[in-house]
Amino acid sequence: MIRTKIAGIGMYLPEQIVTNNDLTRYMDTSDEWIQERTGIQERRFANRTAETTATMGVEAARIAIERAGLGPEDIDFIIFATLSPDYYFPGCGVLVQRAMKMKEVGALDVRNQCSGFIYALSVGDQFIKSGMYRNILVIGSEKHSFGLDFSTRGRNVSVIFGDGAGAVVLQPSSNMNQGILSTHLHSDGDSAELLALYNPGTHANHWSDKDLADFDEAALGEMFMSHAMIDNAQNFPYMDGPAVFKKAVVKFPEVIMEALNANGKQASEIKMLIPHQANLRISQFVQQKLKLNDDQVYNNIQKYGNTTAASIPIALCEAWELGKIAGGDLVCLAAFGSGFTWASALLNW
Ligand code: UT7
Repeated sequence: MIRTKIAGIGMYLPEQIVTNNDLTRYMDTSDEWIQERTGIQERRFANRTAETTATMGVEAARIAIERAGLGPEDIDFIIFATLSPDYYFPGCGVLVQRAMKMKEVGALDVRNQCSGFIYALSVGDQFIKSGMYRNILVIGSEKHSFGLDFSTRGRNVSVIFGDGAGAVVLQPSSNMNQGILSTHLHSDGDSAELLALYNPGTHANHWSDKDLADFDEAALGEMFMSHAMIDNAQNFPYMDGPAVFKKAVVKFPEVIMEALNANGKQASEIKMLIPHQANLRISQFVQQKLKLNDDQVYNNIQKYGNTTAASIPIALCEAWELGKIAGGDLVCLAAFGSGFTWASALLNW
């Protein structure tokens, strides 16, 4: 039997710190509102031109690969999770392959937003356990700051998100007390439009009664992205925050319990729960529901905001760097977000 272990982990946060007060220069919001509703005090924004989702992923990957005692040439598969890719296509995985001068290995992009990293981890786990690959690089990275509406119109979304990247290297382990015990993946597409970036896209208002995209049907070439879409801010993410919140506080505990039950474990046995950093209030709700102590849940949304696919690897890396996770510890990862999709992973560090 083989398990998949995390052989190396790294993270990258851009230097530029943006406080809540900084955001009040652009929109009608306040430090009090943001802290009270989300717990966020500040977030990082990438350099607008020098840093991209892929380059931040590369920075995190360099550290993870080095900590695994490897070089880029040893990686035999890349999985890249993001909702803010450098290009609509191709994906960021190939940009990492190029930037790191890797061999012509497979590169897969995962588009599962907040649960993207756990989905990516799950895919990597299967490839390792099947024996197909031995050194898989899994990256979660986001450059949200390039695609948010910083006017008051977009304030319910834009105050939440931040930029950053995290990465792990997966390897096989014959030690059954180390590595990923199980992963659990779910989706409910009924709520796809409740947290989404509709445009640019090819939907042509097919899925919803609402006009999610303003385009002139007669004007070929204006189908994918039109001036009207931009005028009406349809190129920015939409989120029904309260609806997402209500579902998240149900699905987080549910998918964590699913992982615990699948492995005959109790919540009290978790050394560290690393929830996707969506909102501090959601994490606190989950903590109460599962009766976990403060030192069993790792939160860093206060410093980095919600970095979507990057939030779990960044939090996992930081918790490990601070010595809050050590060899053999039971670690639970859990996420919920756009799709809706939600997921968990239970592992022994
Ligand atoms: O990781 C992806 C998954 N996403 C999530 O998990 C997000 C889940 N949802 C949330 O975290 C919360 O719903 C938000 C933080 C997004 C919003 O908090 P809320 O307590 O649900 O506020 P709300 O949307 O119900 O808005 C309450 C009020 C509204 O004003 P009125 O209508 O009561 O006058 C909003 O217009 O707060 C207003 N508001 C703001 N005020 C100041 C919304 N955004 C802001 C803002 N600053 N940034």
